[in-house]
Amino acid sequence: MAEIVILESSEEASALAAQRILHHIRAKPGHNLGVATGATPLSLYRQMASYAREYGIRIDGVTAFALDEYLGLAPGSPHSFHHALLEHFVKVMGLDPARLRVPNGVAGASGEVGAEFEQEIRGAGGIDCQILGIGSNGHIGFNEPGSSLASRTRVTMLAEETRRDNSSHFSCLKDVPRYSISQGIGTILEARHLVLLAFGSRKARAVAAALEGPVTASCPGSAIQLHPSVTVFLDRDSSRSLSGLDYYTQSWQNQPESPSWRFAR
Ligand code: F6R
Repeated sequence: MAEIVILESSEEASALAAQRILHHIRAKPGHNLGVATGATPLSLYRQMASYAREYGIRIDGVTAFALDEYLGLAPGSPHSFHHALLEHFVKVMGLDPARLRVPNGVAGASGEVGAEFEQEIRGAGGIDCQILGIGSNGHIGFNEPGSSLASRTRVTMLAEETRRDNSSHFSCLKDVPRYSISQGIGTILEARHLVLLAFGSRKARAVAAALEGPVTASCPGSAIQLHPSVTVFLDRDSSRSLSGLDYYTQSWQNQPESPSWRFAR
């Protein structure tokens, strides 16, 4: 079962997630970190930078692999995930931009882009820790409902719900790309550790389906149940629909020892 950590606010949950991930990085400084874009990990990235400074954890050996990219957007486009990761992850963490790898969204809808990205991940020795958000429809990466649980990095079509959810970053819905290049669910499951974050009541239904529902392509996030090393960080609102909420909260609060990855501050 996943380790499920529920805190009152997204800030508190992000602080603990930052410690969890830095614990992995400290254990392997030449770390391959899978990074998600979107609103969810913004505070996580800021807090990782701050804890790394405070505890003298070297992060300059980290190589970051993006989960996905919009198809048809050049890396320099202000709407591309490449640009967002440079701004919100690379700059914040003080990393060399050359250490960020993002699938090439302009190379066209050929199968080769996905295969090349997979090759890059494999050549680097695989992803050590993969950070994930979850869509309100249960997607992880841009693997929308119906995606094969064995899927690899490829071109995917965005669900209309996803396009609407992401439209606030664009001037109008029509400008939101219809396709992405996304790591597949099979690719994600090969990472050595998964850390999933979800905040806000809009995610409550997807979180319950992913953690407690059947493992099914109808909820791509449910695939994390197949992984042996998963930590999930939730705030109060995103955890509301979990039937095991009291149990998860109590087992987190009443554990005999603080988990080894928590930093004393
Ligand atoms: C982003 C990604 C998506 C997001 C998800 C949640 O790289 O792959 O799965 O994690 O859409 O987005 P936010 O965090 O904006 O709610």
